[in-house]
Amino acid sequence: MKLHNAHKTCWNCPAAILKGNVDFRACGQSLEAIRQRIEREGLLIECARLPDLGHFEPTITFEECPEWRPTKYGYLLENMRVMILGIDGYLGWTLALKLGALGCEVSGVDCFLRRKMVRELGADSVVPIYPMEERLKAAKEVLDIDIKFRKINILDREKLGQFMREVQPEAIVHYGEIPSAPYSMIDCDHAIQVQYNNVIGTLGLLFLMKEICPEASLIKLGTLGEYGAPLTGRPLFEGLFPADAILRWRGREWSLGGELTPRDPVSFYHVSKVQDTFNIYEACKYWWLRSYDVMQGVIYGVHTDEVAADPRLRTRLDVDEWFGTVVNRFVAQAILGMPLTVYGEGEQIRGFIALEDAMECMVRLISSPPEPGQYDVVNQVSGLYKVSELAETVARVAAEFGYDVKIQRVENPRVEADYHPFEVVSTKLPNELGFTPKVPLEVEIRRMFELLTQPHIVERIKKVAHLIRPRTWWSGEKRVVETLEVYRPGTRRRRGFKPKLITDRERFPTSKMEEVERAVEALGEGGDGDKG
Ligand SMILES: NC(=O)c1ccc[n+]([C@@H]2O[C@H](COP(=O)([O-])OP(=O)(O)OC[C@H]3O[C@@H](n4cnc5c(N)ncnc54)[C@H](O)[C@@H]3O)[C@@H](O)[C@H]2O)c1
Repeated sequence: MKLHNAHKTCWNCPAAILKGNVDFRACGQSLEAIRQRIEREGLLIECARLPDLGHFEPTITFEECPEWRPTKYGYLLENMRVMILGIDGYLGWTLALKLGALGCEVSGVDCFLRRKMVRELGADSVVPIYPMEERLKAAKEVLDIDIKFRKINILDREKLGQFMREVQPEAIVHYGEIPSAPYSMIDCDHAIQVQYNNVIGTLGLLFLMKEICPEASLIKLGTLGEYGAPLTGRPLFEGLFPADAILRWRGREWSLGGELTPRDPVSFYHVSKVQDTFNIYEACKYWWLRSYDVMQGVIYGVHTDEVAADPRLRTRLDVDEWFGTVVNRFVAQAILGMPLTVYGEGEQIRGFIALEDAMECMVRLISSPPEPGQYDVVNQVSGLYKVSELAETVARVAAEFGYDVKIQRVENPRVEADYHPFEVVSTKLPNELGFTPKVPLEVEIRRMFELLTQPHIVERIKKVAHLIRPRTWWSGEKRVVETLEVYRPGTRRRRGFKPKLITDRERFPTSKMEEVERAVEALGEGGDGDKG
């Protein structure tokens, strides 16, 4: 019985010192040329964790290696050193606790920029979050997790480099960017701030990785919004065209296989992510860095077992127009008795995933590092929904909690198509990384109502209620959007296109998936186990 990454070898392992007896990176050759050379001449490596092995061929599998331990998310490097950039954020903090609970040595940096930006806009996280010192203390007390934290601005390369030298990370998760499209569209200063922070931060990081930890994998957060929503209906492939994609022009044909797919970013924030994509792609090519660029769907929700373990461990949740993502905003509006604000026709389709599922995907990516030089992209999404459909779902769950909710269509301050086809390919996480979504939309929305209806949180939602309705227009205009129509859930006919999520699950024999599930079950309740 095999876990999904059982067959990976030292070639993928960050502990393998690839210089060995030949520094193939210094050759400056293409992957293909290097492969041929390795086949011809062989490549010997050393292991940073098991130096007694001396020089050997990089053929030991994760399943065979005593340093890789089986968990319910695949083999995971024992005490893997994972550095999280942006560890104080919505996702960073949640992932830090999850990785800590799995036995990783977690370190992280943050300069509390998100807290500052939110404060300056007069908003606040509606779920109370604690200062970092208290978060760290609670992580130790409640979950017995030690997190090594440094307050560092990623743009300060000297300080970040020092910390990276000290930690010697084996994986770096880069969440440390400004994550908001509307924030980047406020005005020129905000657009420049977002692009400078995100693009220059990531570019500097790539140079530091080259110098300090070229074997570490970089798991970088991009967004599905990098692709836009092509009106032709062309599928959103996972970053690169598949081998059988063909370009036809004037009677001639070319394979597009392996080329980056076109991007059509939808705000200055999204442009910063596209720029990151190209910089990372190049760094992998020039310096043999390895990276997963995660085209992340919109994340919603509040729950993982670790953040729910103590109020001091909760992660932030924002509902204002700049930092509140759509499902989170709708739940807050329902609790306030405010009709849910759907922009424009509400027929826009986007990709989504619950917080808990997104965290599981990240662990699976960390546990399955790419090969040296490999730039890969995964589309991390578990469902595609129309905005109006999300509003209907939130209204339905709200009714279970005794809220009578209406929906309002408002002017759309963004520049985006009201009606568009949307076909998203997401085959790698389910088929190569063994991921199955576990948290249906309604389940997570229910968990949100359970948490956000607590009286002290309702008070906090009331304080930011006036910041939910948008006033930031892509045109540069500054005025609160007008209501176009108010309707009761279930009374409006849905029109437009039907989204399609292509996972290719059916192409993989069920028996294979069952085998993986049995292997996971054999690990027992806690999910961890010793090697048999
Ligand atoms: N939350 C989502 O739905 C979503 C969807 C798609 C992509 N993403 C991406 O995931 C990443 C994390 O998102 P999030 O929702 O956790 O955002 P967040 O704002 O809560 O977290 C980002 C953290 O990075 C820190 N940071 C930013 N710039 C920094 C710098 N220069 N130096 C040090 N720290 C810095 C912030 O202070 C913050 O704590 C972002 O890159 C975002 O674009 C998020």
